Amino acid sequence: MLSELEASTLARVEKTQTQDELEAIRVEVLGRKGTLAGISREMGKLPPTERADLGKQLNAAKQTLEAALEARKAEFESVALAKRLDGEWVDLTIPSPGVRLGSLHPITQIQMEIEDLFRSLGFAVLDGPEVETEYHNFDALNIPADHPARDMQDTFWLEGGNLLRTHTSPVQVRGMERFEPPLRMIAPGRVFRNETVDASHEHTFYQLEGMMIDRHVSVGNLIYFMKTLLTAIFHKEVTVRLRPGYFPFVEPGFELDIRCLICGGTGCAVCKQSGWVELLPCGLVNPKVLRMSGIDPEKWNGFAFGLGLTRLVMMRYGIDDIRWLQSGDLRFLRQF
Ligand code: PHE
Repeated sequence: MLSELEASTLARVEKTQTQDELEAIRVEVLGRKGTLAGISREMGKLPPTERADLGKQLNAAKQTLEAALEARKAEFESVALAKRLDGEWVDLTIPSPGVRLGSLHPITQIQMEIEDLFRSLGFAVLDGPEVETEYHNFDALNIPADHPARDMQDTFWLEGGNLLRTHTSPVQVRGMERFEPPLRMIAPGRVFRNETVDASHEHTFYQLEGMMIDRHVSVGNLIYFMKTLLTAIFHKEVTVRLRPGYFPFVEPGFELDIRCLICGGTGCAVCKQSGWVELLPCGLVNPKVLRMSGIDPEKWNGFAFGLGLTRLVMMRYGIDDIRWLQSGDLRFLRQF
């Protein structure tokens, strides 16, 4: 009878499909109120010799069945584990999508291009402080305190009489003070004006100052360098014209315009129907300015120009609002 129970239970265990079915069999046969426990209880009524014999058989059957249940349970567990691993499988050999490379800000890019060009023409690239003295920003450029030209540049004054430089021209002063002529230098950098910000005005923007001092510098030399510069920037020959322009540190002073690159000169919204775009203030350095910085205007003269890097970037890429440039907006920056 015991061996029959053992055989039939083993067969049932073999056929189980789930852990729950398996557990039900365990409770039914091996549980505290199970079949084997029942037999064990009946055993008490037997005479001692038979009792010992049956006891041994009972123990053996119990061990066999427990082992079979354990083995079947392990099978279920390994199938479940295999299934889970299959679901969580990751292909480590798939190539990664890669990191997104950053890029330089369009103003930095154009600045570097212009630096490369001028270096190839024998110019040094100078740097100067953004917090300037009143002397370097104004007086040394022939703009004394009572001069109306000071009003052309709304200034952030700092405590103690210093200021945030309103243009890169103070760096030409520092260059003249420090180096002997002949002198060729450019000075790119950040400048500040106390302006109300709108689509075409920023309180913070970028300029690139240029200066050349030599024995017989002419307006012809100035035009040559400016045309070389503009051709390199726009990758095509540009037509330029000079109009008189007033800056106290140059004499004569000019506004250099280029024929509109959008319409070719016939008139459009960018050039306000005039066919020309104002781009570069420039001129021959005022002898007074040379003298103030220790250069003898009887022996030397030169030209200077100021290039609005921010304006140039806007023209090059057709950006219609200056505020994009310092927005930090990645949707904008990722285009460059
Ligand atoms: N510094 C002038 C400005 O910012 C521009 C300029 C530079 C004009 C050099 C002439 C020569 O307005």
